[in-house]
Amino acid sequence: MTGVTITGWGSALPERVVTNGELSALFETTDDWIVERSGIRTRHVATGPFADAGDDPNPPAGGLGTTGTLAVTAAREALRVAGLQGSDIDMVILCTTTADQLIPASSASIAAALGIVRGAMDINAACAGFTYGLVTASGMIAAGARRIVLIGAETLTRATNWADRTNAFLFGDGAGAVVLEATPGDGCLLGWDLGVDGTLVDLLYAHHGSGMVMRGKEVFRRAVMATVSSATASLERSKLGIDEISLFVPHQANIRIMEAVASRLGLPTEKVASVIGRTGNTSSASIPLALVDAIQSGRVSDGDNLLLAGFGAGMTWASAVWRWHEG
Ligand code: UT7
Repeated sequence: MTGVTITGWGSALPERVVTNGELSALFETTDDWIVERSGIRTRHVATGPFADAGDDPNPPAGGLGTTGTLAVTAAREALRVAGLQGSDIDMVILCTTTADQLIPASSASIAAALGIVRGAMDINAACAGFTYGLVTASGMIAAGARRIVLIGAETLTRATNWADRTNAFLFGDGAGAVVLEATPGDGCLLGWDLGVDGTLVDLLYAHHGSGMVMRGKEVFRRAVMATVSSATASLERSKLGIDEISLFVPHQANIRIMEAVASRLGLPTEKVASVIGRTGNTSSASIPLALVDAIQSGRVSDGDNLLLAGFGAGMTWASAVWRWHEG
C-alpha cells in the first residue's frame, strides 16, 4: 500500500498591499464596513489600478505579477524545504481559476521554470481547487507517482470588477505550494469529499474579458451549508470525531463564513487557521496560504489531524482530513 505525505511547503504574495482605505478612492466604502462584513483589512495585489505593473500582460521578469510567477516562487520554496529539485518531480499540478492565458495551461510554463518534465496540468475547481488537487495528487501517488508539486495560485485581481463595491474588496492575489511524496503504509489522507452543483453557476461567474459577478448573500448561505456537510462527510470517512481535529484550514472567503462553519462543526475559533485579514480571498491559493502560515508559525505538530474545507464558484466544494507527519 502506498500513502502520501507533505514534505515541503512555500508561499508567495505580491509586494503591493492595498488597504481598505485605499479602496474608497474607487467606490463608496469604509474600513469599518469591510472589516465588519468580511474580516479583511488588506490584500496583496499583482494587477489592477493599485499594482505597480498595472494591467501589463507582460510584467517585468522576476516580479510577482502573474499567476505563473507567484506559483513558481511558492513552488521553489516548497522544493527547497523538501530538499528536492524539479528533476525529481513526476507531476506539477496548478490549481487556479486565473490562468495566465487560455492556451496552454499555465502549469506548462511553471514546469519549464522548475525543470519538471514528466507531467503538468491545471485544475480549475474555483476556491475548492486546492483540495480537489490534493485528492487528485494523492490518487496519482496511490497509482504509482512518487513526487508531486501541488500549487494553488491566483491573480484574482485580473478578474475583479473594480467598479463593483459589493465584491471588489474581497479579492487578492497569492500562491501556496506543497510537495507530496509517496510513503509506505496508509499515508496522511484519512478521508475526503468532493462535490459540485452545476445548477448554481449563475451565483458567481466571470465571462472572458469581464469582471466577476456574484450574488454574495446567496453564495454566503450556500457556502456555509456545503462546507459543513462536506467536512462532516470527510470526518465520517476518516472515522475521526471533531474533537480529534487540531486545526481547521478553511477556504478564506469571509471570516463570518469561516466562523459560522467552525461553530456548526463544533470547533472553537482558536482551532481555525486564518490569514484572510491580510490576504483577502485568494481562491485556490487561500487554503495553501493558510496552511503554510500555520506550519511556519509552529501551529502544526507531528500526528496532528487537520481538516481542510472549501467551496467556490460552480458551485464546487471539497474537504479532506489530513494527518500531519513530519518528513
Ligand atoms: O470564494 C467564494 C466567493 N465568495 C464569497 O464567499 C462571498 C460570500 N458573500 C459574502 O461574503 C457577503 O455576502 C459580502 C461580504 C460580499 C457582503 O456582505 P453582506 O453582509 O451580505 O452585505 P450585503 O450585500 O447584504 O450589503 C449590506 C449593505 C447594502 O446596503 P442596503 O441595501 O442594506 O442599504 C449594500 O448596498 O451594505 C451595502 N454595501 C456596502 N457598503 C459599504 C455593499 N457593499 C458595500 C461596501 N461598502 N463595499
